[in-house]
Amino acid sequence: MIISHATAADLDAICDLEAVGFAEFERWSRQSWADELAGDRWVITRLDAHARVIGVASFGVAEEMADLYRVVVEPGSRGQGIGASLVNAGLDWAAAVGARRMLLEVRPDNPAVGLYRRLGFEEISMRRDYYGAGHDALVMQRGVGSEDRWAVESA
Ligand SMILES: CC(C)(COP(=O)(O)OP(=O)(O)OC[C@H]1O[C@@H](n2cnc3c(N)ncnc32)[C@H](O)[C@@H]1OP(=O)(O)O)[C@@H](O)C(=O)NCCC(=O)NCCS
Repeated sequence: MIISHATAADLDAICDLEAVGFAEFERWSRQSWADELAGDRWVITRLDAHARVIGVASFGVAEEMADLYRVVVEPGSRGQGIGASLVNAGLDWAAAVGARRMLLEVRPDNPAVGLYRRLGFEEISMRRDYYGAGHDALVMQRGVGSEDRWAVESA
């Protein structure tokens, strides 16, 4: 597994992933990703054997709460555990910086919900019109680090 910190040099590759990963209405702009890379988010890439970027994920943390903001894997490399490896790296990072829980928002009809469930995330609420009028978001959460069992125990 080759997981690396993303830098500004990865911006083109990340924008290419964004374009194939999301419909236009939910796509992040190039500027959004540039801000993501320049700010205090933790952005990681997954590289193939030729150091080509085939996946990206972005995380943030505020005190005890971490957020998974984005995870995208190129279509030809899906279903091989790459998305899970990126999310698991983010969970390890969140635990290391002192977070106790990780939150994410996802479209309820996104197949990624299955991946998140498998990784221990549980649905906690719905945010109406989160992605624009008529596009709700499912909010999912799980514990990290020593709080790994939080979601199970509080279910
Ligand atoms: C969601 C995503 C990152 C998963 O990446 P991945 O490398 O295929 O993930 P994994 O191989 O670790 O796990 C595959 C799981 O993802 C789900 N999945 C979503 N889209 C999939 C696809 N096109 N092919 C295979 N699995 C897909 C499945 O539920 C699968 O779960 P399972 O293993 O229990 O069957 C990837 O499908 C993607 O980039 N989607 C578009 C962007 C997106 O919607 N991101 C999530 C919201 S930010």
